[in-house]
Amino acid sequence: MPGVIGPADYSQEPPRNSCLKINSKEPFNAEPPRSALISSYVTPVELFYKRNHGPIPVVDDIERYRVSIFGLIKNPKELSMADIRKLPKYNVTATLQCAGNRRTAMSNVRKVKGVGWDVAAIGNAVWGGARLADVLELVGIPKLAATTPSGGKHVEFTSVDKCKEENGGPYKASIPLKQATSPEADVLLAYEMNGEPLNRDHGYPLRGIVPGVIGARSVKWLDSINISAEECQGFFMQRDYKMFPPSVNWENINWASRRPLMDFPVQCAICSLEDVDVVKKGKITVAGYAVAGGGRGIERVDVSIDGGKTWLEVARCQKPDVPYVADDICSDKWAWVFFKAEVDIPRKAEIVAKAVDVAANVQPEDVAVIWNLRGVLNTSWHRVKVRVSHSNL
Ligand code: MTE
Repeated sequence: MPGVIGPADYSQEPPRNSCLKINSKEPFNAEPPRSALISSYVTPVELFYKRNHGPIPVVDDIERYRVSIFGLIKNPKELSMADIRKLPKYNVTATLQCAGNRRTAMSNVRKVKGVGWDVAAIGNAVWGGARLADVLELVGIPKLAATTPSGGKHVEFTSVDKCKEENGGPYKASIPLKQATSPEADVLLAYEMNGEPLNRDHGYPLRGIVPGVIGARSVKWLDSINISAEECQGFFMQRDYKMFPPSVNWENINWASRRPLMDFPVQCAICSLEDVDVVKKGKITVAGYAVAGGGRGIERVDVSIDGGKTWLEVARCQKPDVPYVADDICSDKWAWVFFKAEVDIPRKAEIVAKAVDVAANVQPEDVAVIWNLRGVLNTSWHRVKVRVSHSNL
């Protein structure tokens, strides 16, 4: 690809904020502290989790950069950044969540394979860019098309980074053409994050953003877009980011038996407390985020201070002074909500949070029942154990 290259080593990594908790250095995978994550509804870029599978690409000449669109279409094209910027610009507030969020807690049940994450492999940003549906019109694919005349049914994004899982090849993923051509799905080719050009970690100069879907499908550093008959056959679609039942192990796994993960299920986590915490006497704050995939709003968040025996419905909000109503036109449908409650606790308490989305999906109680060998989609009730410190009794 002219203009952007995928380095073979980690000598050209960008600078990063020192408060990030590093889960793997090379490739760089890091998340913010819990308390920082809920300090603002729109996550500052430097605090946004970074999830990489190889060295960060380098743009050596943005003027020469092109994204090529080819495959089962009549008019393949190469688009420059100027071509993309000519299209109407949309700002979409969307939460990106890694399917491996909360993996460490799943590993505590039984070891799973993959980078460990606490509860902050998630962030909410205002993504600015062109709608993929508009870009696809430039190559002759109309809005709401589920197939092209020559049989294209999937849109495959390919990057330039060199990933060991792909034997040194680039990261790739696909989404159905139907989703890509639907203006309602808000799929973007994004060049901005929170009003600034994307930075290198997050996909400069151009990335896909697929709202409501696991982060793995939002491919960074786009090189090409292939309209294909089959979904992407790459490692991260076919041999990773799939969910298996607890009985499947590395001896009996049949990767082809399961579909690639797309929409993420309803999720929430307490971020005002650590999993084991000591607090001062008096009311304590139980606050965190809740989010559901597929554009489903959050209908309810319940908190318990007795390990789940009794529950209290807690307040939800997105923006200050705007009451949050799930699925309301004024709410950001692709974005998380924050929840908050002030509670009195006994000397020792197990605090639990669970969320319910507008389709009445509810988080599973026990992580063991959703345990899977890759440690994806740990959406079990989030539990923290707190003790009131003696010095304040
Ligand atoms: N795109 C490329 N090219 N390479 C990657 O390693 N990681 C994916 C996705 N897109 C990845 C990628 C995964 S698993 C996630 S969760 C998100 O990017 C993370 O995006 P972020 O680093 O901007 O938070």
